[in-house]
Amino acid sequence: MMNKPDAAVAVRGLTVRRGSRTVFDGLDVDIIRGSVTGLLGPSGCGKSTLMRSIVGVQKTRGGTVTVLGDRAGSRGLRRRVSYATQSAAVYDDLSVRDNLRYFARAAGLGRRDADRAIDTVGLTEHARGLAGDLSGGQRSRVSLAVALLGDPELIVLDEPTVGLDPVLRDELWSTFRGIADTGATLLVSSHVMDEATRCDRLLLMREGRVIADTTPAGLLAATGAADADAAFLELIRSGAHPDAADHPLTRRERRAER
Ligand SMILES: Nc1ncnc2c1ncn2[C@@H]1O[C@H](COP(=O)(O)OP(=O)(O)O)[C@@H](O)[C@H]1O
Ligand SMILES: [Mg+2]
Repeated sequence: MMNKPDAAVAVRGLTVRRGSRTVFDGLDVDIIRGSVTGLLGPSGCGKSTLMRSIVGVQKTRGGTVTVLGDRAGSRGLRRRVSYATQSAAVYDDLSVRDNLRYFARAAGLGRRDADRAIDTVGLTEHARGLAGDLSGGQRSRVSLAVALLGDPELIVLDEPTVGLDPVLRDELWSTFRGIADTGATLLVSSHVMDEATRCDRLLLMREGRVIADTTPAGLLAATGAADADAAFLELIRSGAHPDAADHPLTRRERRAER
């Protein structure tokens, strides 16, 4: 199998069952390196399941998931890929700095790495405060800092902005942008469609299928909609095929790959 050289993640024919439910039945998707890719779609469409498959913690029934050239979940990827789950794993009774030091040590890193991550997410002023005293937006930044430890090449963030007000969400997206500008690849999920505008690339999911693989501008152009919410509805209404938007691989390219 040949993958695009600029693909950080290549998913081919992925099949996943959870309980009695088939979540994916032959899913194909690529995630482009050095970009912020938004994985958007309503609750239950399979965002977390796809992320789990990419970081190698999801039991799969078939297909392949290739991450930075290796099989998802393989040992060599441990330090190259990071993952923040939907519920932030932060210790409330530790300071921000002690949280980061704890996770840094567990990853074989030092205090300087911890401080640098705190700085990147803009929490240096709060480093001595207890994580439990932070606002929702600041807590999200602590989990983000943990995900940044060790400078991973691929950072997978599951709904990091959920429950934040628009101003905090905007700030967090700016931070994602800054991290991607250093060359990292970010995959960020959200069920809030208006976050689409903050991404370089968009994957719109519905019921376990990618209904568009595009850019914010491409989404609006393809649907003629005024905003991302309307565009998503338009795609559903028109029974969109992934190739309806400016998909990076044409169907012919896909066939040639196999
Ligand atoms: N532990 C589980 N057991 C059975 N079904 C599950 C489990 N977790 C998720 N699912 C189902 O898998 C589908 C995809 O879920 P998920 O990936 O969590 O969606 P999202 O993250 O987009 O909300 C949903 O239909 C959900 O009900
Ligand atoms: Mg989820």
